[in-house]
Amino acid sequence: MSVQFPDYLLNQYQAANNAAATSRLSAASLEPLTLQMMMEYATEEELAQWHGLSLQYADERGSVELRSLISSQYPGLEADNILLFSGATEALFCAFNATVTAGNTVVAITPAYEPLLAIPKALGAQVKAITLHKSGGPLTTDSGREAHGSWQFPVDELQNHLQGGVDQLVINFPHNPSGAHINKATQSSIVEFALSANAWLFSDEVFRGLEHDAQHQLPPIASLYARGISLGSVAKPHGLGGVRIGWLACQNKEVLQRALTIKRSLSICPAITDEWLATVALRNSKKLIAASQLLLSKHIDLIENSVSALGGRLNWLSPQAGCVAFPEIGDSIDVGQLAEKLLTDRGIMIIPGNCFPSLYQNHFRLGYGLKNFPDVWTNFVDYLLRY
Ligand SMILES: Cc1ncc(COP(=O)(O)O)c(C=O)c1O
Repeated sequence: MSVQFPDYLLNQYQAANNAAATSRLSAASLEPLTLQMMMEYATEEELAQWHGLSLQYADERGSVELRSLISSQYPGLEADNILLFSGATEALFCAFNATVTAGNTVVAITPAYEPLLAIPKALGAQVKAITLHKSGGPLTTDSGREAHGSWQFPVDELQNHLQGGVDQLVINFPHNPSGAHINKATQSSIVEFALSANAWLFSDEVFRGLEHDAQHQLPPIASLYARGISLGSVAKPHGLGGVRIGWLACQNKEVLQRALTIKRSLSICPAITDEWLATVALRNSKKLIAASQLLLSKHIDLIENSVSALGGRLNWLSPQAGCVAFPEIGDSIDVGQLAEKLLTDRGIMIIPGNCFPSLYQNHFRLGYGLKNFPDVWTNFVDYLLRY
């Protein structure tokens, strides 16, 4: 069967509206680092390597040095359990092509980063959604501060899918677009479920490292389960979307070999300059992430301080990780119309919920990782109050 390449709603929406946008309130990224900053983080030796870099094809698997560095994040795995790609997007495309066949049943989390559902579907799988729930709501705590609801993974619902068989379970924590995260007990139940179904467990972990409380970082799925595949990337936790280095980590080397075969028809190998940049970023990851965490926490405070003034216009659900949230627009306001008018009137782009497959349509992705967030947010709040 021929694969139909999905035309993602998110990309279509961005392509149609980018030109009109002067600021973005839905970016799933941190403020990008500059080349100059990366040079400042590099050691003398790394700088000498950079200047003498031979601009040849890289190793098709990615350099052993970089794969070893990455494998240190995966207990029990080594360089040969890691395969590099030109971005996480290519990695997930190759992973699904290597593990999904027509007629398979794939259970996937929603709301979702669209390719996580669309690619298995394009490969002929039957895709069944498992949908995050909303729990809690506005209430006042002892400290007088408002506590907000959050998103929860409905682990009890997994069992409903066992009958009839599951070939692959697709999860994404920390989650885009909601910023939800799971705890260790839920992660263990997910792994047990995959084990009992003998299913592949594809875990999109590109936001790993951006847990708002560092203690909530989970072990990667690839370290926990023989048929677990972890998707990782240097982009999201570091503000390096333009450094196209993503990877798959997996105990099963056969599946990595199949993914590599597919990659030979795509990028072939990572860019050698990107490998250097990714190496410097990963060696300085702790420092880089600590600075971002500070910014994210300030931005969340800013949001939470405006929520009560917005009343029913914004139903805020607190994120636990990453740099995005997925609030609901209330008071009978249509999010699609709001997005359109906000762009026309204030040049601010928000991405409506229909770009993220789920039941939750009247929501939008709120990105709070960029440096100009305070100004854009203030502008947005002002607009929503007058809307
Ligand atoms: C959950 C998730 N997975 C994968 C990707 C792809 O990452 P990249 O754009 O770096 O290839 C993204 C990008 O937004 C994402 O949000």
